[in-house]
Amino acid sequence: MRPLNVSDYRELARRRLPRGVFEYVDRGTEDEVAMRALRDSLDALKLVPKVLADVASIDLSTQVFGKAQALPVIVAPTAMAGLLWYDGEVALARAARDAGIPFCISTQSITSIEAIAASAPAADLWFQLYVWENRGLTQDLLSRVRGAGVETLVLTADTPASPKKEWNVRNGFSIPIVPSLRAGMDVALHPRWLARVLLRHLLRTGMPTYAHYPEAFKTRITRSAVTSDLRIDNRLTWDDLRELRRRWPGRLVVKGILGLDDAQRAHDCGADGIVVSSHGGRNLDSAPSPIDVLPAIADRLAARLTVLADSGIRRGSDIVKYLASGAQAVMIGRALLYGIAAGGEAGAVDVLALLRDELERTLAFLGEPEARNLSSENLRRSHSLAQRAT
Ligand SMILES: Cc1cc2nc3c(=O)[nH]c(=O)nc-3n(C[C@H](O)[C@H](O)[C@H](O)COP(=O)(O)O)c2cc1C
Repeated sequence: MRPLNVSDYRELARRRLPRGVFEYVDRGTEDEVAMRALRDSLDALKLVPKVLADVASIDLSTQVFGKAQALPVIVAPTAMAGLLWYDGEVALARAARDAGIPFCISTQSITSIEAIAASAPAADLWFQLYVWENRGLTQDLLSRVRGAGVETLVLTADTPASPKKEWNVRNGFSIPIVPSLRAGMDVALHPRWLARVLLRHLLRTGMPTYAHYPEAFKTRITRSAVTSDLRIDNRLTWDDLRELRRRWPGRLVVKGILGLDDAQRAHDCGADGIVVSSHGGRNLDSAPSPIDVLPAIADRLAARLTVLADSGIRRGSDIVKYLASGAQAVMIGRALLYGIAAGGEAGAVDVLALLRDELERTLAFLGEPEARNLSSENLRRSHSLAQRAT
């Protein structure tokens, strides 16, 4: 099957990955209400076509934090992309570089920032930070991040609790992985993944680990009990954001904001940007869809800080809707993970090319040759949604 869209890539990923790994990537939390809401809210938002406009030359470029990007897209930070494809994080970094966009490395990646930087020279690397309970170790990590030349730090603020992902538990894919007959059978039924991903890890560096854990703490993800030092700190407050602002000299972005007051406070604490995000429907299952709260946040703050957004993007038209709702650029998670699961770097490159093509076609239908000119004028909310909003 030649994949024609993100959904085709999802299907390829589903076939290639052990069920436990696929569902870890693909699914949401609890009853997946937030994930369904993401799709529903994006589909409910309509784009208004404009006819007889010259759209022979479409320009998708933009500037984020003063840097030119070929597309209004940033590759979202995703934990453990290296479990989908050997060196998956490097594949994502290279695909992003070749598309002229940044790649945001996750604190929980399988490949370290130094190794990614070495294997993807000239990539624009951002870093996503989870603050650990041990703040000294967090500072050490930040020094590494600075040492690697990162300019943009993304503090993820929306994960004060571990979300309840029941299928992960059933599949034996909780972290740490609990060995089970079911998980073993699952892996055995996917020999290609076993040979190309897991065995390569085992032969070269051993069982995959969170690469940014300090050496002394590195626990194989199959082993029990990650030390509390490296738990995501749920005592984090706005004071910590101010402190981080004082210490981090580069751009500082707060990811996971859905409320107007929080967006304002992030700005007041000195953040340069925010990501309006429901973490892809993976954290709070009753979270609102970012596309529904984005216009009010962007109206109030886009002139003062950079407003990014993510969650649920599967088509170029979804990107257009986020941009028209006030985002400067979007982050994309799963769509690219399906790409690397199906074909490594080439898969990610192709997913970005498909989205670029869909973006161009959508802009042509809207009679809008420049993506950066999109605005609420291009949108028409469906009747029922408008009623709900009033
Ligand atoms: C498998 C997976 C792992 C993720 N890991 C992280 C992470 O380590 N840090 C983080 O801030 N967000 C993480 N996210 C959330 C993404 O950064 C992003 O917000 C989300 O994927 C956007 O939704 P989408 O997948 O529908 O594009 C993860 C998402 C997925 C799918």
